[in-house]
Amino acid sequence: MTLRAGVIGWPIEQSKSPIIHAYWLDKFGIEGIYEKIALSPDGFQEGILDLISKGYRGANVTIPHKEAAFQICDTVSERALKIGAVNTLVFEDGKVTGDNTDGYGFLENIRSSLENWNTETGPAFVIGAGGAARGILWALEEAGYKDIRIWNRTVAKAEALAEVFSETTTPVSGDLSDAINGAAFLVNTSSLGMVGQPQLEINLTGLHPDAVVTDIVYNPLETDLLRQANSKGFETVDGLGMLLHQATPGFEKWFGQKPEVTPELRELVLK
Ligand code: ATR
Repeated sequence: MTLRAGVIGWPIEQSKSPIIHAYWLDKFGIEGIYEKIALSPDGFQEGILDLISKGYRGANVTIPHKEAAFQICDTVSERALKIGAVNTLVFEDGKVTGDNTDGYGFLENIRSSLENWNTETGPAFVIGAGGAARGILWALEEAGYKDIRIWNRTVAKAEALAEVFSETTTPVSGDLSDAINGAAFLVNTSSLGMVGQPQLEINLTGLHPDAVVTDIVYNPLETDLLRQANSKGFETVDGLGMLLHQATPGFEKWFGQKPEVTPELRELVLK
């Protein structure tokens, strides 16, 4: 019996997830299919029921459905509950279970990219307060940061997220280049710097001398932020690994094998 799963979005053509899962299916020799599934917001719930009736094992969920997916779950993981959104659905016995692996993917990427990730060097600093920022805040708490600062163009959104993660996180406002003073871990979760979007205007001079700089934008792979950080001698981590690592829990649930993120997979997705 062919095992089926896929990625649901609107639009979905741009998704790289099928490349990742096809690579692992091939590696393990599993008879499975992972496909792109276009569902409009109006047709989301009905589309899910249709997939269940066809025997799908589950699906990844991407923009704009992560909150709607959260709503339709019978049960969700603790981290999905904290993040308030779901990117991985498992269908079993007619029930829907939801998880959010974005923060996990971020954590695994940083852990596997840095030889020594010291979360005690100084505060972490998050740029942006959209959907992606929630997963990153979860990850930074999980990593052990006690002082996380969040900055966003729309200050009210940073304030709202800081309330959700109130044990660790405080909103900051004002000039971004000043606000990052002393930060030891900087992550851009906004869409700034992505192909077709405006650049992130920032001067990194005030960062802690041992700061790590990372971007969840991976197109381009080396964003202006990472280029500036590299040129100033800061350690950097690009955003592609997060995409690869967030895919592993879903694959394991649907196809029964624990996959690995390899340099070969990275090259394949980059092509
Ligand atoms: P995602 O789910 O990818 O995080 P999102 O929820 O639309 O997407 O959030 C996009 C983030 O990029 C937000 O933090 C947004 O800032 P606002 O909350 O002020 O909208 C940020 N962003 C997008 N375009 C921006 C721009 N031109 N200048 C500053 N911030 C921008």
